[in-house]
Amino acid sequence: MSPVESGTVEETTLTPDVQWWQSAVIYQVYPRSFADGDGDGVGDLAGLTARLPYIASLGVDGIWMTPFQPSPQLDQGYDVSDYCGVDPLFGTMEQFDALLELAHSLGLRILLDVVPNHCSSEHPLFQQALAAGPGSQKRDMFHFVEGSDDDVPPNNWQSVFGGRAWSRANPESLTDTDWYLHLFSAGQPDWNWRNPAVGDYFDGVLRFWFDKGVDGLRIDVAHALFKAEGLPDSPSAGGVVDGLRSNPQVSDQEEVHEVYRRWRTLAEKYEPHRLLVGEVNLEPARAARYTRADEMQQAFAFAFVKLGWDPAAWAAAGNELEAARRLHGATPTWALENHDIVRSVTRFGGGELGAMRARAALVALLGLPGPAYLYQGQELGLPEVDVPLECRVDPMWARGGVCRDGARVPLPWIADAALNHGFSLAEPAIAFQASEPWLPQPADWGTHAIELQQEDPESSLALVTKALEMRRLLWKSEVFGPNDGGSWRVEAGNLLICERSADFFVAVAMGTEPVKLPAGTVLLSAAPLAEDGWLQPDNAAWVLRR
Ligand code: GLC
Repeated sequence: MSPVESGTVEETTLTPDVQWWQSAVIYQVYPRSFADGDGDGVGDLAGLTARLPYIASLGVDGIWMTPFQPSPQLDQGYDVSDYCGVDPLFGTMEQFDALLELAHSLGLRILLDVVPNHCSSEHPLFQQALAAGPGSQKRDMFHFVEGSDDDVPPNNWQSVFGGRAWSRANPESLTDTDWYLHLFSAGQPDWNWRNPAVGDYFDGVLRFWFDKGVDGLRIDVAHALFKAEGLPDSPSAGGVVDGLRSNPQVSDQEEVHEVYRRWRTLAEKYEPHRLLVGEVNLEPARAARYTRADEMQQAFAFAFVKLGWDPAAWAAAGNELEAARRLHGATPTWALENHDIVRSVTRFGGGELGAMRARAALVALLGLPGPAYLYQGQELGLPEVDVPLECRVDPMWARGGVCRDGARVPLPWIADAALNHGFSLAEPAIAFQASEPWLPQPADWGTHAIELQQEDPESSLALVTKALEMRRLLWKSEVFGPNDGGSWRVEAGNLLICERSADFFVAVAMGTEPVKLPAGTVLLSAAPLAEDGWLQPDNAAWVLRR
C-alpha cells in the first residue's frame, strides 16, 4: 500500500531554505549512446532533445551530460579541443540552446561536464605551446619538462590508462627535448594549474555556460588539477592505479581547494546558484573536504561501486561516509553506476541474480540520505555488454587492458533488432532508421527495451519511477530532510539496515534466507514481500516507523 493510500504520510511544503540539489536525483546522459537524431549511429543533441520527455517522465530533477564539446573523440569527448562549442558530431550550439530551453520547460536542470585537468592535444593553446618551443611562456600553460634522454621521461609517473604519463613534445626534433605530462592518454595534455592564466581561462569557460543558463557542472578528476611542486617521483612502486590515489604527487594537493572556493564564489554570483559536483575519487574523509561550505556542493560517493554483495562491507563504507559527513557536513551524493563503471547487474553476479540485486541496490540508493545520480540504462536494469574485441574503442582498453565500452552500448528504445532498437531516429524524429550504432547492441538487447518496460508494472523502469515518486513525496512530507544521517548496521541473517532518521530506514536482505524486518510500514520494496514483514534474499525495502 502506498503512503498516500494508507494516509501514513502527509504532504507539507518543503522548507524554503532547502536547496533543490539536496533532495535531487540526477540522470546521467552519455549523449553518444542515448539517442541518435540524425541517423549516423552516434547519439546526439537532436536525439536527446527528442527524448527529453522520457527523462522527465522518470521524475528525476535534472540531467548531467557527459562532454559534447569539440574533440578528436580519442577519449569519447574527455579530450576537449574547444570548451565553449559543440562538436558537429553532436550538433550545433543552436540545438544545445533549444535543448536547454525544452529541458527547463519540462522542469529538468542541466549539468555539463567540465574537464579542467587536461584538454585535447588539438586544443589551440596546446598547439601554440608546441609551436612556441622550449622555454616559452606558452609552454607554461602545460607541464613541459626538458629531458636529457629520449627514453628517460622527467619522472616515474604512470598514466591512468596505462604506460608512462609523459610523451616527447616533438619526437622529430633534435633541439626540442621537452616532454609533456598527460595523466591519461598522450592526446590529453595536463594543464599547469600553478600558472594563474589557466585559472583565468577556466573562469571564462564557467561563465560561458552559466551565462547560458546551465544549472551546474560535474567536474572531471577534480582532485588531480595540481601536481606537487617540482614534479617529484612518486614513492608508490606500482605507479598510478585506482583513480590516481596511489600517486600522492598528483592527487589531492592542498592548493586544489582554492580552485573550488573560487568556482563556488562564481557559481553563487548567479541566481539560482549554480551547482558543482566533483568526481573526487578519494577515501571519504579526504573527499568530504571538497564539499566544505565554501567549495563544491556535492562530490560523488562511489562507496558501493567497488564492493560485492557484502553487508558488512556496505555497513562499514556507509558508516565511514557518515563519519565524514559529521566532520565536514558533507552529505554523500550516491552513485552506483556511470560510464566508467561495470554495470551493477553484472557486478552483483549477472543474470537473474544480478538483476534482482541491482533492483534492490537501486531501491537502497534512492532511499539513502543524500542526493543520487542514475546512469542512463540503470533504470532498465541493463547488464554490462561484452563488446566484441574488434569493436572496442576505449583508449583505456588500448593502453591498459580495462575496457569501459560495455557500459556505453546504445540504449534499446524498442524491441525490434532490425531497427537497431530504435536508437536512431529519422527526421522528423518520429520514425526509426536502422543505422549501425557506434557500438554493437547484443542479441538480447530487445528484452530490456524501454517500450516493453513502460507497459510492464513489474519492470525495473516501473520500480525506479515509483521510487522516485515516493521519494519526492517523502521530501515534501518532511520524512526525508536535508539533515538526515545514516547509521548502518547488519542484523541477523545478513540484513543490512541504514537508519536514515528516527522515522525511516532502508533494509537490504543480503543473506541466503528470508529475514524479518524490524517493525514498521513497508513503503516500497524491490520485489514483493515474502510475507508480511519478511524480505526474501536480494530484496530491499523502505520502512516507515509509524
Ligand atoms: C573521468 C571520466 C572518464 C575519462 C577520464 C579522463 O574519469 O569519467 O570517462 O576517461 O576522466 O578525462
